[in-house]
Amino acid sequence: MRLETEVLGVRFQNPFFLAAGTCGFGLELAEVLDLEVLGGFVTKSVTLEPRLGNARPRVAEFGGGMLNSIGLANPGLEKTKREKLPWIRDNVCRPRVLVSVAGHTVTEFFMLVEGLDSEDGFLGFEINLSCPNDARRGGKPFALDPSAVAEIISGCRMRTQRPLVAKLAPNDSDLPRTVRVATEQGADALTLVNTLPGVLLNVSTGDPELGAGDGGISGPALRPSGLRAVREARANTHLPLFGVGGILTAADAVEYAHAGASLVQMGTASFAWPRAAEQAIEGLMGWGRKHQIGAWDDLVSKSPGGNGSSSRSEPFDPIESAEEG
Ligand SMILES: Cc1cc2nc3c(=O)[nH]c(=O)nc-3n(C[C@H](O)[C@H](O)[C@H](O)COP(=O)(O)O)c2cc1C
Repeated sequence: MRLETEVLGVRFQNPFFLAAGTCGFGLELAEVLDLEVLGGFVTKSVTLEPRLGNARPRVAEFGGGMLNSIGLANPGLEKTKREKLPWIRDNVCRPRVLVSVAGHTVTEFFMLVEGLDSEDGFLGFEINLSCPNDARRGGKPFALDPSAVAEIISGCRMRTQRPLVAKLAPNDSDLPRTVRVATEQGADALTLVNTLPGVLLNVSTGDPELGAGDGGISGPALRPSGLRAVREARANTHLPLFGVGGILTAADAVEYAHAGASLVQMGTASFAWPRAAEQAIEGLMGWGRKHQIGAWDDLVSKSPGGNGSSSRSEPFDPIESAEEG
């Protein structure tokens, strides 16, 4: 199966990315995974100032995956420019890199995009609108506030020509609206989903397992939410979609393609097995051979409202699309 795919006007050698916050800035994983096998990766979310992160413990495992409340620990804008991006520029060849940015205010998103835009080494921005672990906003992500989504995406759009990818939340009770707002305000693609709010309690004491109390669920338990979000988004936008949530294997990625994702991201699986993405990429070729699918793009274009790999510029019209067959 041919895995190359063209999205955002760019050729990716395969549709597999590592998800934000699960591969640092690349170099943290470079000793255990050959980054060059990836379609791309998304950096840890960068904030204006360095952040040490939330109280420990920050991660806990459970049968369905992981709960985390890292609290956006990251080196901040200046160190990212000085150290992290130069490393990516000098060491990462084939994978495409999105820099994830996370503001605590609308204006901070603009400052981050402006501050990073002139640097080398990356393709575009993933705008993290959906972090459930930022106590300063009371745990309510921007993604659940359509007017904030509109302001952030339109403001970022004015500040960069690079691809802008809006990362949305799984617990959005009006996801179709958020998807349409992000599309109308100039996002080039959407990432669905970030982690889902949750808590784990110590069975003896009843205290939360994480230092911060609540956290975000990731891993296999998140996959049905991620798939549902991608399907719902597919019906409401023509934009290409990144499918994220609980992808462990090639088959999980295929499921996301069926839902309408053009590209996929893997997070928690790499904690359990750093080379999980490499294995899934190999597995995808085998899956294609077995099911006689010639290309990843064929899977994507067969999804309901498919065509996610193309760079259509006209608004997606479900009625017209149905007539097209
Ligand atoms: C430890 C950890 C840290 C994360 N940090 C970020 C982050 O900085 N920015 C972000 O947008 N998402 C972050 N995420 C969410 C992931 O990018 C991804 O959306 C989520 O984990 C679902 O994918 P998965 O089930 O494959 O892990 C983090 C997830 C984990 C597990």
